[in-house]
Amino acid sequence: MIKYLEIGVAMGEHAELVLRDRNIYYTGIDQWKYDTTMEHEKNKIENWNTQEKWDDVYKSVLKKLSKFQDRASIIRGSSRDVVPTLVHKYDVIYVDGDHSYEGAKKDLELSLDVLAEDGKIIVDDLHYPSVRKAFKEFVEENEVQHKGDTIIKKK
Ligand SMILES: C[S@@+](CC[C@H](N)C(=O)[O-])C[C@H]1O[C@@H](n2cnc3c(N)ncnc32)[C@H](O)[C@@H]1O
Repeated sequence: MIKYLEIGVAMGEHAELVLRDRNIYYTGIDQWKYDTTMEHEKNKIENWNTQEKWDDVYKSVLKKLSKFQDRASIIRGSSRDVVPTLVHKYDVIYVDGDHSYEGAKKDLELSLDVLAEDGKIIVDDLHYPSVRKAFKEFVEENEVQHKGDTIIKKK
């Protein structure tokens, strides 16, 4: 089985796509929390501008992914708190959570700690200057290399 970790699940669209592959065991982390600092999400936040709406999104994701029950695990909380508690190593980590520079950098650093030896980290939304800056620095500061948006450990 391939262990797949997604940081930032939102409505579970990517999760549902990934779980079509029966060889994947998926773990998704999201805080589903209304936060006025999430300026980069303002198109979504316009419609999700209360905690009740985020709670509904969380519930809808649980429902959506329930058909994959034994292969999908959802953890609600900030990646900063949750990732350090993970006990497995992941073959694929899809980083698509906090898009601020600090948030993206932290998610990358935390991801490296739970990345399997031959695993890869895929970073979404590199067109955000904040995410791109975090990505670039992370690659420079760690024993990793990248091809496009995909990071692997240096051998
Ligand atoms: C762009 S959306 C994710 C979209 C999803 N990956 C997809 O492709 O279907 C970003 C998500 O990251 C979540 N997020 C932002 N900061 C977070 C944090 N510190 N910890 C966990 N989730 C966070 C937000 O709640 C939001 O749902």
